[in-house]
Amino acid sequence: MTEMTEIRNVVVVGAGAMGSQIGLLCALAGYFATITDIAQDSLDRAETQLHQRMNRDVEKGRRASGDVQAAFGRLRFCTDLRAAATTADFVIEAAVEKLDVKRRLFADLDRVSPPHAILATNSSSIVSSRIADATGRPDRVCNMHFFNPALVMKCVEVVRGPNTSDATVATAVELAHRLGKTPVVLDREIPGFIANRILGAVRDEAILLLENGIASVQDIDTACRTALGYPMGPFELMDLTGIDIGYLTKMDRFAESGDPKDQPSKSVSALVERGELGRKTGRGWYDYDQTGTKTPRPTEQVRTT
Ligand code: 3HC
Repeated sequence: MTEMTEIRNVVVVGAGAMGSQIGLLCALAGYFATITDIAQDSLDRAETQLHQRMNRDVEKGRRASGDVQAAFGRLRFCTDLRAAATTADFVIEAAVEKLDVKRRLFADLDRVSPPHAILATNSSSIVSSRIADATGRPDRVCNMHFFNPALVMKCVEVVRGPNTSDATVATAVELAHRLGKTPVVLDREIPGFIANRILGAVRDEAILLLENGIASVQDIDTACRTALGYPMGPFELMDLTGIDIGYLTKMDRFAESGDPKDQPSKSVSALVERGELGRKTGRGWYDYDQTGTKTPRPTEQVRTT
């Protein structure tokens, strides 16, 4: 077995909800972390939100102010991915769920990152073997899948592609531990891995109950919370993670399988077409005000049959 990679510098691609929190997690754990994005306003938004989140943690006594300040001292935000990647030991890509974008990104990263650097994708729907051949280092490519909100959820799925080396898996597992996470390793690729496959089945059933006129969004969420002990119902969760993310995941799976049951539901497609993507747009299965408080929407506004 080759040596595990020594990590000092982590580069995160994408300043969305996932990428920004993953970057901060790395900085909190003592790494030098750079969050990159093509859009400066996404970086600015991420920086503001991370500061707000950490201020709250300090106020509530969850973290020491000195630790948070030190973490922000180790965290950089920049639009120049190529420059950032030249000193990367570990890259975590959390960009849009589109195969061609990821393949281009990985080919670029391969050209500019040091040869020892590991290139991981946070994707759960696109397995790393679909990207690894865009690089000259398929042994150093894997999936490292965090859950939303990444600062809170403990699980990280580390998934080995057919060419991923033992050392790469061991390094990703060690990194997950250092970030305070609980890694779960999959030695065989399957889109969705473990958690999202189970979640997907629950979501499909919830949407079926809605579209067949059996129950409302609110009643389904209430049942899941109060009967099954879920921290939030499937519709509340889609609004948190972004309705577009689930939509793109289904579109990608459908493109691969051609199986009509992999297509996004009519209700989800209609919400995405209207730009009603969940919390981040202030409207999804629910409406959200400035403070993030949600109110139910009439069923006819969210149910498309
Ligand atoms: N970011 C960071 N921290 C957050 C957060 C966010 N977006 N939302 C909540 N928190 C933290 C905060 O510390 C918050 O405390 P605060 O309000 O005092 O700051 C604390 O969680 C509690 O939050 P709330 O009181 O608002 O609500 P809950 O007690 O319900 O906790 C939750 C929120 C942790 C998100 C919980 O509801 C939960 O575990 N929900 C399920 C999340 C889940 O299933 N995630 C997996 C999604 S699938 C996925 O990510 C895969 C990907 O491929 C799409």
